[in-house]
Amino acid sequence: MSGEEAAALIQPGAQIGMSGFTGSGYPKAVPTALARRIADAHLRGDKFKVNVFTGASTGPELDGALAMAGGMQLRIPYQSDPITRKLINSGEMQYIDMHLSQVAQYVEYGFMGKLDLALIEVTAILEDGRVIPSTSVGNNQTWIDCAEKIILEVNSALPMELEGMHDLYYGLGQPPNRYPIPLTSVCQRIGEPYLKIPAEKVIAVVHTDSPDRSSSFKAPDANSKKIAGNILDFLGNEVKKGRLPASLLPLQSGVGNIANAVLYGLEEGPFNGLTAYTEVIQDGLVSLLRSGKMTCASATAFSLSPEGTAEFIPKIGEFRDRIVLRSQEISNHPGIIRRLGVIAMNGMIEADIYGNVNSTHIMGSSIMNGIGGSGDFARNGFMSIFMAPSTAKNGTISSIVPMVSHVDHTEHDVSVVVTEQGLADLRGLSPTQRAKLVIENCTHPDYRGELRDYFKSALSLSYGKHTPHLLSESLSWHSRYLRTGHMLGKAE
Ligand code: COA
Repeated sequence: MSGEEAAALIQPGAQIGMSGFTGSGYPKAVPTALARRIADAHLRGDKFKVNVFTGASTGPELDGALAMAGGMQLRIPYQSDPITRKLINSGEMQYIDMHLSQVAQYVEYGFMGKLDLALIEVTAILEDGRVIPSTSVGNNQTWIDCAEKIILEVNSALPMELEGMHDLYYGLGQPPNRYPIPLTSVCQRIGEPYLKIPAEKVIAVVHTDSPDRSSSFKAPDANSKKIAGNILDFLGNEVKKGRLPASLLPLQSGVGNIANAVLYGLEEGPFNGLTAYTEVIQDGLVSLLRSGKMTCASATAFSLSPEGTAEFIPKIGEFRDRIVLRSQEISNHPGIIRRLGVIAMNGMIEADIYGNVNSTHIMGSSIMNGIGGSGDFARNGFMSIFMAPSTAKNGTISSIVPMVSHVDHTEHDVSVVVTEQGLADLRGLSPTQRAKLVIENCTHPDYRGELRDYFKSALSLSYGKHTPHLLSESLSWHSRYLRTGHMLGKAE
């Protein structure tokens, strides 16, 4: 049926599990039609909102359209849409930012209430009923299992060569009857390439023919290149010291421009035979696969720029044996990440002198995107690297601060902090040792003096000397920025 006919089957207040992960594999026709229906209802003065669960961020036809119509009451677990962000930050919409590995279990056990509908984009339904997933797997099988009803969007813009690329593992079970997941190498396949969909639950099948609409990456600038260079030097030294194999350990690289720039940096680096056990396959990762520097990659989704989509998706068949797409419960599984010894590399908003990291909130209260999988990988990886330019917004904000204004990753989960200024390896250091290194190696020179002064005062005046802080001053940089538009004292 058409998107409009399918959207007419959705009731106000419905909880819908939709496919979609970092701009790929999200349904397109039904959310757009639903947004129109909601907008019409609002024009008539009727109340109409739904709760939307996904894998991660989606695209303008889903988050964008529903947010524009004011159609979402609640959104989980990760978003990056500008209109959605605005509604969340103005308090008009509820948002629960969650570790991506935990979402499926939350829904399976009913912590989020009943799931009314699964709305899933797929590549094809085969004659025997097997279903080929789309460009992301995310939480799709969980939505299918838990929802009362299912709507499928079959997108004929997707190449049939996707068949065989996915690996759906059906053996996870529930505690206390969970057994080891038999995954011991990055591209091992432990499941089946198809989604299992009970036909009796399917209330609509909608045909679409449009590619994922993702946003472009910024071309790596001088700072991103320096950050990438600092990370490559560090990894090279770790190899020399015998702490990493020459082909490194499986890489995880987060979302964002900086993470993508690091992947491009690896292309020029000395490492060969690389692998990735990660969440998303970005342009930079495809480039490593194409050049042969990387042998194989496991993820839950593609996250390609429009150029990357146009160039790569039609040739996807060439990579079928070197890419595995899994459910996000497995791609982000803490046990597997620890077992494989993943090197986690993620972007951050800010870090403090002790190594606590804020990945999500500007000035402690305004959400940017969400924690995504960064927590799954940072806590459980072999090592966890966080990176950012040392300043933001034309130098008015320092990304190294006395105390982070929101904590996503505690000092216990952060091995390395890196900016274009340099890198601080925090492993094996006490809080005060860490602070000296972060201030000297990572801080922008404009802020270094003030940070040294803060630390010096804290060392002598702090209530305790283990993690010295002056509580009356520790967030003063943020409050000064909110008052004056600059974090530096001399602006006042
Ligand atoms: N204060 C205010 N704004 C800041 C800031 C700070 N300390 N640090 C960054 N920003 C702003 C930038 O100015 C930029 O704004 P713009 O879009 O208006 O230009 C935006 O945040 C993105 O920053 P950028 O420097 O381009 O980095 P990025 O694209 O690499 O994104 C994160 C950085 C932190 C937003 C991104 O990595 C993220 O969302 N991480 C959390 C999720 C995650 O790690 N997932 C990975 C698991 S796979």
